[in-house]
Amino acid sequence: MSEQRERTFVMVKPDAFQRGLVGEIIGRFEDRGLKLVGAKVTRLSQKQAEDHYGEHEDKPFFDDLVEFITSGPVVPMVWEGEDATRQVRQMIGATDPAEAAPGTIRGDYAVDLGRNVVHAADHEDEGANEREIALFFDDDELVEYDFHESTWLY
Ligand code: TYD
Ligand code: MG
Repeated sequence: MSEQRERTFVMVKPDAFQRGLVGEIIGRFEDRGLKLVGAKVTRLSQKQAEDHYGEHEDKPFFDDLVEFITSGPVVPMVWEGEDATRQVRQMIGATDPAEAAPGTIRGDYAVDLGRNVVHAADHEDEGANEREIALFFDDDELVEYDFHESTWLY
């Protein structure tokens, strides 16, 4: 992986999984030109969910958030590319889908704040990607590869 490329953690949430939006959401990042280096289908335990959302443990919505994220299958993923964390955050849109611009994933597929179809690591939290990736993936589950001798096609 070159210096400029970074890996960012993204997860399809249970509402999107149940609605059959997994392919649609993966396609958004593929179409953008980001590179998929890890993905799985899993269901979070209570402990995993509490760890993943640990930063929100004092918030009034924490219990509902943990209940929702453990309610069904999810698709944790790692996407790689230049400035990937910031780009992915732009693509998913505002946390509250009512505020998310059309064209963003949340703006196109969600209306409910508690069910906003996709998670992505916070680009303003420097340790977020490393921490969240480690919660869901072992090192050997992330694949290093190149399709071409190219500096722009990942
Ligand atoms: P947060 O990390 O603030 O948003 P984001 O997912 O954009 O990084 O919050 C985590 C999740 O918690 C959010 O996706 C939806 C849920 N949430 C609520 O249910 N109510 C709220 O008031 C907030 C701020 C978040
Ligand atoms: Mg967040």
